Amino acid sequence: MSGLAKVVVLGAGNIGGSLAQRLAEMDVAREVMLVDIVEGLPEGKALDLQESAPILGFSTRVRGSTSLDAIAGADVVVETAGLARKPGMSRSDLLEKNAAIVRGHAQAVRAKAPNAVCVVVTNPVDVMTHYFRAQCGLPASRVFGESGTLDAARFRWFVAEALGVAPRDVTAFVLGSHGDTMVPILSLSSVAGVPLARLLPADRLAAIVERTQKGGGEIVNLLKTGSAFYAPTASQAELVAAIARDEHRLVSVSAQLDGAFGERDVYLSVPSVLGRNGIERIVEVDLAPAERTAFAKSAAAVRDDLAILAKLPG
Ligand code: 2OP
Repeated sequence: MSGLAKVVVLGAGNIGGSLAQRLAEMDVAREVMLVDIVEGLPEGKALDLQESAPILGFSTRVRGSTSLDAIAGADVVVETAGLARKPGMSRSDLLEKNAAIVRGHAQAVRAKAPNAVCVVVTNPVDVMTHYFRAQCGLPASRVFGESGTLDAARFRWFVAEALGVAPRDVTAFVLGSHGDTMVPILSLSSVAGVPLARLLPADRLAAIVERTQKGGGEIVNLLKTGSAFYAPTASQAELVAAIARDEHRLVSVSAQLDGAFGERDVYLSVPSVLGRNGIERIVEVDLAPAERTAFAKSAAAVRDDLAILAKLPG
């Protein structure tokens, strides 16, 4: 059992429910609170999860609520609420509707859990994290977005599958935005330390990069009624565990940039050290000229969405 008293998961849909299950089974907090506006949904999922405790042996208390008052006392808040993509939609198509949801939640965090570390998952995630931070007013170190670890997990699986090696032996960094302009960094990716370029020909690597960039859309097209949640929640649970256990993990999360990687006033996935108080530091690494150009393009795509967001009421 960790030192976390309470993790609040906002949104009890596929992501929220699956994340609550992972967190309970990992026993990373004394209490996991699921919150949703749909009457009965958070309470029902929480009770169902709780009833698995005798079999699975976890001691986490799982509760559900339809009231934002349930945020009070949270050490960690994970914002999962909002619409998911349908086939043919980009993550940016969700901007306006999801901003309205995120606004109310961020303001509730400001009022009820000002000491929390907040992980934003709602899409388009880099923009929603920026907005969540602006609306809650917490320090940037305590508000970050989950996406780089998810994108890296997809990349790692595709490499593991191509080489027939254990997925956990593949390490990778995917930086930039959580969209088609994300930047898998081949020079920072390896199989147990062996650079990928020594293991796979350039055309196979290029195909894996492209499949990673479109990885979320591949699942949306298969599911037709929603987007991925198993790999996303595995990634989110890993981040919450890093906070709970003060692990100082070096992971790629969407962090507010203040000059690092040549960017400012924008959230993008970059290598960051993560512990009990959130982001301890951003680790700036030299990128090759082509990677730097791709990263700047990714930043420009997020800024386009920020400009749309700035014109919304509220
Ligand atoms: C994904 O990439 C949901 O954006 C998330 O699957």
